[in-house]
Amino acid sequence: EQMAKELLDPLALIKDEVSEISNRLRSMVVAEVPELTLAAGYFFRAGAEGKRTCPTVLLLMASSISMDMADPIFGSKNEIRERYMRLAEITELIHVTSLIHDDVLDDANTRRGMDSLNCVMGKKLAVLAGDFLLSKAFSTAAVSLDNAEVILLLATAVNNLVTGEFMQMRITPIQRCSMDYYLQKSYYKTAALISNSCKAVSVLAGQTAEVATLAYQYGKHLGIAYQLIDDILDFTGTSASLGKGSLSDIHQGIVTAPILFAMEEYPQLRVIVEQGFDDPSNVDAALAYLARSKGIERTRLLAAEHAKLAADAIDALPESKDGSVLISRQALKDLTEKLIKRTK
Ligand code: FPP
Ligand code: MG
Ligand code: MG
Repeated sequence: EQMAKELLDPLALIKDEVSEISNRLRSMVVAEVPELTLAAGYFFRAGAEGKRTCPTVLLLMASSISMDMADPIFGSKNEIRERYMRLAEITELIHVTSLIHDDVLDDANTRRGMDSLNCVMGKKLAVLAGDFLLSKAFSTAAVSLDNAEVILLLATAVNNLVTGEFMQMRITPIQRCSMDYYLQKSYYKTAALISNSCKAVSVLAGQTAEVATLAYQYGKHLGIAYQLIDDILDFTGTSASLGKGSLSDIHQGIVTAPILFAMEEYPQLRVIVEQGFDDPSNVDAALAYLARSKGIERTRLLAAEHAKLAADAIDALPESKDGSVLISRQALKDLTEKLIKRTK
């Protein structure tokens, strides 16, 4: 029965690889100075690793587009599979770096249901720990991937993360009211890392440009859907369930899709959004409009549209009869479903 379950559960199939990645990450983030090792390893300790969505998606993507029939996820590991795993590690390193630096920028005290690194060790050490992790990401890429195009995709992802964070920080009142600006920022901030890494998997696999684009599209729409749900949960979730603050966006003056949709229903809300949320009564007023509007509902629908586009990208991959390829593709599609239903 255990075996039948594993055959049906694609996550069980890559479970060993994901834990190998976790172990390797722990040994990778050792620095010369013990205190820096402690800081850099903070989010890689057992129990502090989060959902490990990046490695999961990338390994499933690898299995979904692998042309090498000797490389099913069941099979013995070979060299190319090792390289996908290195890429998954690098992506996770970049992801964790972005979280550590984000918490410094946001002055956040909690992350993953724990104290943030800046809270525990101070923001200076958090900045340096992030820089250190980023250097590890790119040194691993140089040594283990040995592919300039792939390294360029990863650098693009970091560039986009910085751009997205910057767009959010320096925003004009007009931009704050724009859905296009919001979606572009969300792509950079949240989707660019996974989309470029999915594309990188395809490049490592020696796939066609068409497949690379589909892999990229999957990551892009998955990431945007994820961010839209995140923005809903910031309004509807509790701090305890999210492992981070709730209503934190609006208190930081960050306007997200639910408010932008509410603004379409209640044009009066625009004046408030343009003024910003330094005045707490503006927060209350915006929340009151949101509660009366279909903002949350419409955001959920938009997330579902992006989840569907992600699934469509998988369906557009070249036909395959390989069992493990099909299971992995189904798992990537299931992930889009799970994502829009998540509550934390
Ligand atoms: C979280 O957003 C933000 C990110 C995941 C991206 C942060 C990007 C940077 C700090 C740029 C530098 C990145 C690198 C890799 C050097 P949020 O604050 O809306 O979400 P939260 O609720 O998870 O804090
Ligand atoms: Mg933050
Ligand atoms: Mg932030």
